[in-house]
Amino acid sequence: MELNKEKITLIADCEVTDKSKTAGGAVVRTSKFCADISECDFEGSCFVQTNLCATFKRSDMSGDYFEEVNLSGAGFERSDMSGDYFEEVNLSGAAFERSSICGAAFEEVNLSGAVFTDGDLSGVEISGCKLDGMTIDGLDVRELIEFYKKNHKENCDMKKNVRKAVIAGNWKMNKTRPEAKALLEELKGKVSDPGCEVIACVPFTNLETAVEATKGTPIKVGAQNCHFEKSGAFTGEISADMLVEMGVEYVVLGHSERRQYFGETDETVNKRTRAALAAGLKPIVCVGELLWERECNITEEVIARQIKLDFYGVSAEELKKCIIAYEPVWAIGTGKTATADQAEEVCAFIRATLAKLYGDDTAEAVTIQYGGSMNAGNAEELLSKANVDGGLIGGASLKAGDFNTIIEAATKG
Ligand code: 13P
Repeated sequence: MELNKEKITLIADCEVTDKSKTAGGAVVRTSKFCADISECDFEGSCFVQTNLCATFKRSDMSGDYFEEVNLSGAGFERSDMSGDYFEEVNLSGAAFERSSICGAAFEEVNLSGAVFTDGDLSGVEISGCKLDGMTIDGLDVRELIEFYKKNHKENCDMKKNVRKAVIAGNWKMNKTRPEAKALLEELKGKVSDPGCEVIACVPFTNLETAVEATKGTPIKVGAQNCHFEKSGAFTGEISADMLVEMGVEYVVLGHSERRQYFGETDETVNKRTRAALAAGLKPIVCVGELLWERECNITEEVIARQIKLDFYGVSAEELKKCIIAYEPVWAIGTGKTATADQAEEVCAFIRATLAKLYGDDTAEAVTIQYGGSMNAGNAEELLSKANVDGGLIGGASLKAGDFNTIIEAATKG
């Protein structure tokens, strides 16, 4: 909040009574306001540690700043408070009548019992506030919030139903060929008509076995990496074309284990993503923050950076063929799952980031998975979230029964 420093008059330790006129931009500190305050000009003022238990009538209080102010029982009638900022303020029992507070921000403010009548509340932001008994035009705020949440959820659920739910197993470096065959045979027996897409991302040496074993079944096959060049002197690497030739449909790219142990960067993930798309593969691109990054409160910065770099140069049409897997690195193989709310928060953030880059329609079409210690016990709750469209599962995908339970949970979610 900007104050006009030239116009500032400091009123400290005083009592302000009716008809007081202060120049706009006043800083009012440790003062007491009593009784009725009418027709005052407080525009752009700053109230700090002040007792304002008064009735304000026809006063201009627009652009004001309130900090540690006691406003309990105060009344604001026909006042203009638009653009005000209230921090750590006690507004319990305050009444705002025919007052405009549009664009005002309330942070950690006690608003319980506050009454807003016939006012303009457009653009008001309320965070971390106490709201018990607060009413707007006679409507209980809690009911309004519940109403909003319900409508918001129904809206999100509708959009979720349009997207493809995808459960993918990332077998990592596990299973010999006979073991792979046995696991897929067992899985085939359980998964005959799944309500979601099912993928097994197997080691390179099992791809042929997997493609063969899953022919004519709903189970698709994915690889766990591919190189970005078409061919050449890249010992140990496999190209996207080589995977397509084998009948592979999906490829996991940018998994945190590849970033952590094999020097994969956002630049190489981007090159691999573009090469995979060009070859006709559907990439499952993994993003996720380290524990330290979460603790430093930079999860969103990390994720936004990965999304922007990993999909650089990828068109909207191509993006719709991709799956994004949100895998917080601290949750992978640790048994420490993100809570469903944490998973939803970041998956929603990924979608919002995509919306900024590609527009709402494209963002709404992209499948976003959660991965990291997802198992038969926690899958249903995680998959019930509006922006969690599926899972990328490590350990639990190695047991046909557990993996199938997750597939069934995706159908419910
Ligand atoms: P876990 O399910 O074993 O934690 O592994 C998750 C993962 O890395 C999937 O790609």
